[in-house]
Amino acid sequence: MRIDKLIANCTPATRREIKLCIKKRQVSVNSKVVSDPGFHVDENKDEIIFCGEKIKYSRYTYLMLNKPEGYISATYDKHYPVVVDLVPKEFAHARLFPVGRLDIDTHGLLLLTNDGDLAHKLLSPKSHVPKTYYVKSAKPVGKSETNSFEKGITLEEDFTTQPAIHKIISDDGYESLLTIYEGKFHQVKRMFEALGNEVVYLKRISMGSLTLDKLLAEGECRPLTGEELQKLKNEI
Ligand code: URA
Repeated sequence: MRIDKLIANCTPATRREIKLCIKKRQVSVNSKVVSDPGFHVDENKDEIIFCGEKIKYSRYTYLMLNKPEGYISATYDKHYPVVVDLVPKEFAHARLFPVGRLDIDTHGLLLLTNDGDLAHKLLSPKSHVPKTYYVKSAKPVGKSETNSFEKGITLEEDFTTQPAIHKIISDDGYESLLTIYEGKFHQVKRMFEALGNEVVYLKRISMGSLTLDKLLAEGECRPLTGEELQKLKNEI
C-alpha cells in the first residue's frame, strides 16, 4: 500500500498534511526516512513512524456507541444530527457507519464500523443475532404479556416475530427486558402496541455477545476490545 494512503487510513491527518510531513523528513519506514508519498510499504510488517508516532495499522475500526436520544442512525441527514457526528475526531478518517438502526428516540448500544462484511452478517436475518432491550412501558406488563412475547406476535399479515425472551424486572411491572431475534422496523414498539401497551423509553443493552459498557456515558463511544470483537465474529 502507498505510505500516504496508509497514514491517511490510520490517522486524522489530511493528504496535504501528510505530504508536508514527508517533505519535512518526518516520516520513516524501518528507520529510513521516506521522501516519496507513493512509497510502497507492507502494512503488516513495516514499522512506520509518522511525526514521531508509530502507526498502528488495522484494516477496520469498530466502536461501541451509547446512543443518546435525538440522533438518527445514519451517516447523513438533512434535518437531524446523525450518530457519526458523535465519533471522536481521531476516528473521522475511518468513514464509519452504524450497524443497523435504532430509532431517533431509542438509546443505547450501537456498533459503528467500516467493516461491511461483519455488518452484513450481523444484520442478516439468517444470523438470528439476539438483541436485548430495556423497556419502560406505559402500562404494567405481566405473565400474559410474557407468554405472548414468548409465543411470537403477529405484526403483519405475513410476519410473526420469532419467540422472544421477556423478563419483568420491576415489582410494579413497568420495566422489562425483551430479547428479539429479528430487527424489523420499530419492532419492539410494535410488539408492545400489539398487546395494547406503549413503549415510553427504549434502550438497547446488548447485541449478541456485545453488551453496552456501563462506563460509557450517553453520546460516548470506545473501540471494541479484541476479545469483544472475536466473540462477536465467532457467533455469526
Ligand atoms: N425496536 C424499536 O421499536 N425501536 C428501536 O429503535 C429498536 C427496536
